[in-house]
Amino acid sequence: MMRFLETLQGRRSIRTYQDRPVPPELLSSLIQAGEMAPSAGNLRARRYVIVRKPDLIKALSLAAYNQKHVETAPVLIVVCADEPRSGSRYGDRGSLYSIQDATAAVMCILLYAYDMGLGACWNGAFDDDLCREILDLEEGVMPVAIISLGWSTSRPSPPSGRDLDEIVRWVD
Ligand SMILES: Cc1cc2nc3c(=O)[nH]c(=O)nc-3n(C[C@H](O)[C@H](O)[C@H](O)COP(=O)(O)O)c2cc1C
Repeated sequence: MMRFLETLQGRRSIRTYQDRPVPPELLSSLIQAGEMAPSAGNLRARRYVIVRKPDLIKALSLAAYNQKHVETAPVLIVVCADEPRSGSRYGDRGSLYSIQDATAAVMCILLYAYDMGLGACWNGAFDDDLCREILDLEEGVMPVAIISLGWSTSRPSPPSGRDLDEIVRWVD
């Protein structure tokens, strides 16, 4: 119980990485962690693209508006929403569900990455169309996050939290 809270408190967005590869088995286990996330109707309407090819990492960093840490990461995991999969059961609502399925997986990947000593950052600022084109994603598969990943070089201190009174309303 306590250890998990420490994991939540210790995880930070890491934007500098060692020039050292991440073993493929570890990358597979990160995806397995993502797949443990809940999903609407257990459909797991999400896909993952693991990018290690330098040319493609460079291209994706440009799609991510030239963010340097995206360019210098040894690995990118692009987590995508599979809208047709969720839409086939849930219609219009499926679009939202597939995004939620994908983002829930992102969070599990980030926490497990931290637990494994890796540093990672959730990058949401990128040009969707360009990213889709670079990765040749299927129709309806929408990239929702580019996770940049590698062995950490830093351990930033936590950002200041918000006062709970500002964000919580108790309805008893
Ligand atoms: C939806 C979303 C989009 C984000 N996009 C970016 C991004 O494009 N580039 C980046 O450097 N960080 C991005 N972040 C990371 C946030 O900046 C970071 O989570 C926040 O500053 C809190 O820091 P922490 O993760 O260390 O707690 C994103 C986070 C979320 C949840």
